[in-house]
Amino acid sequence: MTNEPGSTPFQVDLRRHLREREEDRDLTRVISELATASRYIIHSIRTGELGVAGTSNLYGESQLKLDVLADRIIRKRMTHTGVIASIASEEEAEVQVIDPNGKYSIAYDPLDGSSLVDVNLAVGTIVGIYKGNDVLKPGREMVAALYILYGPRCTLVYSTGNGTHEFAMNALMEYTLVQEDIKVAEHGNIYAPGGTRNKYSPAVEAFVSHLEDRGSKLRYSGGFVPDINQVLIKGEGVFLYPYLSDLPKGKLRLLYELNPMAFLLEQAGGAASNGRQRILDIVPEGIDHREPVFIGSKADVAKVEDLINTLES
Ligand code: AHG
Ligand code: MN
Ligand code: MN
Repeated sequence: MTNEPGSTPFQVDLRRHLREREEDRDLTRVISELATASRYIIHSIRTGELGVAGTSNLYGESQLKLDVLADRIIRKRMTHTGVIASIASEEEAEVQVIDPNGKYSIAYDPLDGSSLVDVNLAVGTIVGIYKGNDVLKPGREMVAALYILYGPRCTLVYSTGNGTHEFAMNALMEYTLVQEDIKVAEHGNIYAPGGTRNKYSPAVEAFVSHLEDRGSKLRYSGGFVPDINQVLIKGEGVFLYPYLSDLPKGKLRLLYELNPMAFLLEQAGGAASNGRQRILDIVPEGIDHREPVFIGSKADVAKVEDLINTLES
């Protein structure tokens, strides 16, 4: 269901989309409250107001770092739902218990790439949603995942396991459907290589050379959310933040960054691997567990797995 160009905008908003697909009411509340949190976050990004926007400033700071503020806003909205058991934030060293009897828990990166705001590049919020109070489970046990991209447009992409769908924030700061059931092609013509190439292993180096020989174009902003969003919305390509000679587990966090994106890309027919194993099958060793990642077009991900298996086993 998409708006045909030139047609009367048939505005399906996020809450209606969830209701029409008969999603669990409490899960709908969590997703809707995250959408509400994004209104405060985008206001702070756009205006630079880092004060108490959307959150009680417990410690009296007049100015907060943007990612700390985003974390506070999300935590406040999650508490407001009344259905959250615990939250694991990239900004906190420990899992925070909200209500031991809560129905859902979240693992999230309140503002990924926050340092990019100073150079006016796009940043985002990434969330994985689990049933119950334990987030230290393989990502395949998530019930939903979403990200919000604060770019020239503010967009929200979510999946509850029934396809991956994109929404855009309108003038009233509501999210209306742009496209549903997004699909990523087997092969892509763009690639986003994280890290530094002189620290790539022979297999990863061979993979990037293979992509370039095939005519793939380099598209890398340094922001995980916009870089992944480009692969998803263009419907092709691969993002990689590989293991490096001085970072054997790569840089990105399994719980806050990789699992939610892996869930969304797999729901769009893509793949996500650490080079040897499906991201969503990895058992987290702790909330700050890091993994290398190759994510996007299925055949491209299979290609790098094959090179790693052949050249580095
Ligand atoms: P965060 O700002 O939450 O620490 O995450 C930043 C990550 C991610 O956005 C991006 O893919 C990666 O850092 C880029 O790292 P490099 O600057 O090493 O390329
Ligand atoms: Mn991050
Ligand atoms: Mn972050």
